[in-house]
Order: sequence, then C-alpha cells, then structure tokens
Amino acid sequence: MSTVITNIGELAGAAEDRWLMKDAALVIDGGRIAWAGPSRQAPAADEAYDAGGRAVLPGFVDSHAHLVFAGERAEEFAARMSGRPYAAGGIRTTVERTRAASDAELAANVRRLVGEMARQGTTTVECKSGYGLTVEQEERAVRIAASLVDEVTFLGAHVVPADMEPEEYVRLVTGPMLEACAPHARFVDVFCERGAFDADQTREILTAGRAAGLVPRLHANQLGHGPGVAIAVEFDAASADHCTFLSDEDVAALAGSRTVATLLPAVEFSTRQPYPDARALIDAGAEVALATDCNPGSCYSSSMAFCVALAVREMRMTPEEAVRAATEGGAKALRRTDVGHLRPGARADVLVLDAPSHIHLAYRPGVPQVARVWRNGRAV
Ligand code: NIG
Ligand code: FE
Repeated sequence: MSTVITNIGELAGAAEDRWLMKDAALVIDGGRIAWAGPSRQAPAADEAYDAGGRAVLPGFVDSHAHLVFAGERAEEFAARMSGRPYAAGGIRTTVERTRAASDAELAANVRRLVGEMARQGTTTVECKSGYGLTVEQEERAVRIAASLVDEVTFLGAHVVPADMEPEEYVRLVTGPMLEACAPHARFVDVFCERGAFDADQTREILTAGRAAGLVPRLHANQLGHGPGVAIAVEFDAASADHCTFLSDEDVAALAGSRTVATLLPAVEFSTRQPYPDARALIDAGAEVALATDCNPGSCYSSSMAFCVALAVREMRMTPEEAVRAATEGGAKALRRTDVGHLRPGARADVLVLDAPSHIHLAYRPGVPQVARVWRNGRAV
C-alpha cells in the first residue's frame, strides 16, 4: 500500500542538501519513505492525500522521557512556583507510588503518555527506568518500557533509595540490577549531580553498563556546574542531557565530540531555572537535540512543540534549528539514522502541520497544530 502526499507547501528534512523544499510531494510505501521531490514530478500511488499547502515535517523524536511512574507531584510544582527550589529528593515520592502500582497500571500510564505524544506529532519515544530502585522494580520498568516505546534506557542510578548506603546501592546497580535490566535496554544513564551520583560513581556505573553492552548517556549539569558533561564526552556517550550549567570547557568538549547536547527547556520552564546556552553550543559546533524530559517531577509536559517554542523564544535558536533539534537532533541522540528525517528509506513518520510553515510551531505557541500523523506508514 503506497500513499502520495501532494500539495505540500513546505517539506522539511527530505533532502540531505536542502532541509526545506517548497511545493513538494512525498511518497510513503510499506512503512518507509519511498520518494520526495517537487510536486509536479510526483509519481502515482495507491492513494493520495492532499496536504492543502500545509507544512510537512518528520515526526518529532523525543529522546528523553521518564514514563514508567505512578502518581503525580502537582503540589511540588505549585510550591516551586512560590519559590521552593527543585531538588532531586522529590524523585523518592514517585518511587514510593511507582513501587505500589501494578504492572498493568504502569503500562497504562506509559500507553497514555505515548498516545498523548503521538497526538502531538511525536513518533519516536525514548523512556527511562529510575522510579523502582530495586532489582525487581527496575527490571519491570525496563520490561514494560521495552514493550511500548522505541528506545529504553536503564536509569537504576537515578537516586540512592532512602533505605540504602550509596556504596551498597552502586554495587547493586552495577551487579544484579544491571544484569536483570540490560536485556531490555539499549542505553545506560546516571543522574550525575550533587544529591544523586558523583563522578567516581558515575564512571563506575557507565563502565559496568558499557561492559554489559549498553550505550552510555547521562543526566549532566542540570542543577549546577559539575563533572557530568566531561564524563559523558570521556565515555563517548550518545548524549549529555540537560546541559543547563556549562563551562566554556564543557561547550568545547561537546563541540569536539559526537556526544549530542540534549536540551530540555520545558524543565527550565517548570523548575524556574535559567535556560541552557544553546547559542554557545551551536556556535561552537556541538550537535544539539531538544526533548521533553516528560516526568511527574521536573517537567510534566509531553509537548515537543512547546519545547520548540521555548527554544526559539528563550534560547535564541532559529525556528529551523529548533525543529531540526527536535527531529534529526533527537535521532542522533539515540544513535538512529532511520528516524528524524524524511529522506527515502526513512521510517515513514510524517507530521502534517495545520500551518503553512515550521515557523508556526514557535510563532503560535500553545496552539494545537497537528493536522495528521503517520507513524511507520500508518495513520495515528
Ligand atoms: O530529568 N533529574 C533527574 N531526573 C528527572 C526528574 C525526575 C523527577 O523529579 O521525578 C529529570 O529532570
Ligand atoms: Fe530526565
């Protein structure tokens, strides 16, 4: 079954040498992009969809989310808005609720959020564990995630559980927990931050994760300056996430590496922190991604469009830079070449905006602008 999308006013991400094409058409065949080019050269297909002059983009790649959880923390958010700072300790509240939930409840929560994301144009989702913090609980988190999302990250090292000593917990994470979780995950992550895991512990966990076949990524430099970004680069991590507090050395290290700087501006919005310096990263030549970090604590938004709008308004990214960071940037942060673009051969993850240009994502913040989404060639 093939579909030709005709009358595309603006087609993004369909050619290596030209990110935007005007008056274009796109052909989907068997879950893949089969052809992209000028409207008048469009080949015939089994069915046609008239985009009516709208903009067509690759589906968003949300490369950072924590969806396996129960309960929520709206009161913590309200307290923050009245001046209380965000602290890693809030994670333990969600750990308690998550441990008490059934597998079916946790799966339903992931499904609900993945559905919410899909309706907003997100077609690739990464999800982390990290609200279980025992071997059994972390294993079930990565197992549930693996059945419902594209990419899974083992984040046993999210915070030290209240009833354990740090050294004892690191031994558990690098031993039996890793062994139980590695078969369900592709990445290993550590919350490298004061109040969570320090540099030595982070290196120990990434080293063990890598030995188990997982690709490192890191929660780095979210709450203050620290060693996270440098360690991410040292480990050739796929991504260093947050990057809210960066030194000049951190920026230079990222620029000289293939580690993607994944910026999560909806977290800064929801925690009232300064926004990361996207301009410094981009101008130095670092690869930048945008993601939501959807979780019940630091940011309960699943909207990539909101992240794009924040990146443009608050981080001085151009609309093109922001949309590319939310699509191909996310794909790079997940070391994926089949998503985040619409060149022939890509997975047919297609977002038709109810707008003539990608600029409208930032120009009309908060307005639903998804006209239609295909994921893997199927209408969502
Ligand atoms: O990416 N910083 C660590 N983890 C999450 C927040 C988790 C929570 O507060 O529940 C984050 O911001
Ligand atoms: Fe996170």
